[in-house]
Amino acid sequence: MEIISHRGFSSERPENTIASFDYALESGFSYLELDIHLSKDGVLYVIHDDTVDRTTDGTGFIKNLNSHEINMLDAGSWFDKKYSEQKIPTLESILIRYQNKAHLFIELKSDSNELINTLRSLLVKYAWIQETHPRTNTLELQRVSIISFLPSQLLRSVALNPEINHGFLMIEPLKENIDFCLLNNINGFFPYVENLDQDIVDQVHREGLFVGAWGFESLIQVSKSLEMGVDGITVDWPSKALEMILTED
Ligand code: G3P
Ligand code: CA
Repeated sequence: MEIISHRGFSSERPENTIASFDYALESGFSYLELDIHLSKDGVLYVIHDDTVDRTTDGTGFIKNLNSHEINMLDAGSWFDKKYSEQKIPTLESILIRYQNKAHLFIELKSDSNELINTLRSLLVKYAWIQETHPRTNTLELQRVSIISFLPSQLLRSVALNPEINHGFLMIEPLKENIDFCLLNNINGFFPYVENLDQDIVDQVHREGLFVGAWGFESLIQVSKSLEMGVDGITVDWPSKALEMILTED
């Protein structure tokens, strides 16, 4: 079972910052989940919320802020004063820094066309994907996956990025969601962990999809996911999850 570090090592560092991603890698975890939004001037930023209010010393919607305003914000002090130097990273800075070092799970947080077009350009520019690269279900051979709760945006992204693995995030693992993945060349099925059960995992596996889970709050959920044969878990505390997995093995 693969461990995906949610917003980096977000239990120990301010989420979606270089400090958080670096710490995940230093701790041995190279599958990094992150969220992207587009600024007013068309720059992709790595931040979860659609406003900067919760995780910085600023206020406002990312889509209403220009990059010179966003770049000034402190994205670490809300977590701990010692991270006051942390900024909201641009996706470009992440693609440069972790080139050949990490597998990124990039979550599309908005339905904007410009967002996926800009993402595509950056992935090509920094050689995270090559236009001739064949798609594969083997995570190790892929260095980037695109995930989203937004079906229409996922469809656009699949059409634009046929070489990349895509994952559908959802609350309920409904049969219609399995069909949506199968019909649309989406090879990852990512329900909220509490709604997974053995029948669903088996059914989704029979269809050849990767089963991921998110929303973990306890190690018991990790243990149950392992038992059910879930392929990937997205957690804030990767080291504790690994310890639990090694204990159960
Ligand atoms: O990877 C799935 C997970 O990140 C979805 O929830 O709200 O943390 O983006 P959220
Ligand atoms: Ca996310």
